[in-house]
Amino acid sequence: MDKIVIHGGQPLYGKVSMSGAKNAALPLLAATLLAPGLHTLSNVPDLRDTRTMLRLLEILGAHWQRTGSTVTIETSNLTTAEAPYELVKTMRASVLVLGPLIARSGFARVSLPGGCAIGARPINYHLNGFEQLGTVTELKQGYVEVRAENGGLEGGTIYLDKPTVTGTENILMASVYAKGKTVIKNAAREPEIGNLIDMLESMGANIQGKDTDCLTIHGVESLHAATATIIPDRIETGTYMIAVAAAGGEVEITDCIPGHLPALTGKLERCGVDIEVGNNSFKVCCPENNGQNHCRLRSVDVTTLPYPGFATDLQAQFMALMTLATGAAVIHETIFENRFMHVAELERMGADIKIDGGSAVVRGVGRGFLSGAQVMATDLRASASLVIAGLAASGMTEISRIYHLERGYENMIEKLAGLGANIRRVRE
Ligand code: EPZ
Repeated sequence: MDKIVIHGGQPLYGKVSMSGAKNAALPLLAATLLAPGLHTLSNVPDLRDTRTMLRLLEILGAHWQRTGSTVTIETSNLTTAEAPYELVKTMRASVLVLGPLIARSGFARVSLPGGCAIGARPINYHLNGFEQLGTVTELKQGYVEVRAENGGLEGGTIYLDKPTVTGTENILMASVYAKGKTVIKNAAREPEIGNLIDMLESMGANIQGKDTDCLTIHGVESLHAATATIIPDRIETGTYMIAVAAAGGEVEITDCIPGHLPALTGKLERCGVDIEVGNNSFKVCCPENNGQNHCRLRSVDVTTLPYPGFATDLQAQFMALMTLATGAAVIHETIFENRFMHVAELERMGADIKIDGGSAVVRGVGRGFLSGAQVMATDLRASASLVIAGLAASGMTEISRIYHLERGYENMIEKLAGLGANIRRVRE
């Protein structure tokens, strides 16, 4: 397995372009199962997770081709409705094929994803939603079988206990052909769902309520193949914003949607970071500080919340930043029950963090007191947190198990090296 080696202390300067959003690409790729034909998706990031989803579509009978960031997918002749355990266990977002398969063929058999590093992550809300549309669910040998009764789905009203992102996406996709009207209440409002709705409408679906917590879908007879573009990755964007704040310097982050990061932008400004907002770019700058090319960072509290609140997918990265600040920050994780796996690794680098249930108190040690170390990535966003800490720490940091990082960040090593970071991949 490869590792990343970083020699910290280099400020970041220059321009970096964002890739397409992993958490939009996954549902939009799954949505191609809804209609036969040749679909074209642009700005699809080339990641471990998108490669896994494309492999899953292949197993189901689809054929795909990638030219640069454009992927064409032919889904006319699906051969099975079963997503195997070997694949689902590597990526829980595989459950996103449930909705389209049930909508298209009335049946789906998908291995239950099981938990992951950050939590149990059940899919009960997904399955309850399908049942509201007239399906029967059975659990057999670790697989969930979902079958439409009476030969097809009927519209219904679904109340989600929590605004589940992939749950909203799965139920939305299942409902596009359901007879009559479907209403999804307490729906998630993440921008990736809006991207999916745009794609489904371009295929002929009838959906109202985009970007709100109440979606209304009127079933249609058929859909045609899609031509859609994946939105920029707001979590990648936020990760680079935080990296500049941690390492210091001045960077223009392009091909992003600043409006998708309202919470983080406000928090970084309160930390003392200068942020210039463009149409599709951010300029992030740490004002010179006593001749140092980084700013003194103020500690700022954060609570993770569903969109448009502070994204849980940026919590680990922000925590790394707070280890460098000049006070104490309380970070409260409300979405997942075990999303502090990065804390122990940050402590190996000299961070002072105390966990109490779903909260962590981060006492900033100030720059220069975070020291490089050998650390281990445990999950996707924890990996990004360790990279950020390594950029700011003095000395060398080695991060092992970087396959976690490659699930969700396209060319991160090259992008950071292009900004002046001393970072490279080393075969272990
Ligand atoms: C999506 O996961 C994202 N993944 C996650 O990003 C992100 O952290 C999460 O939303 C929250 O924003 C994709 O979009 C592929 P949820 P998802 O259902 O949909 C509980 C990353 O790093 N819940 O919104 O799985 C659940 O346990 C990944 O890119 C149930 O109890 O998250 C959690 O506590 C990590 N039952 C809460 O709801 C259900 O049926 C929110 O989870 C579904 C969810």
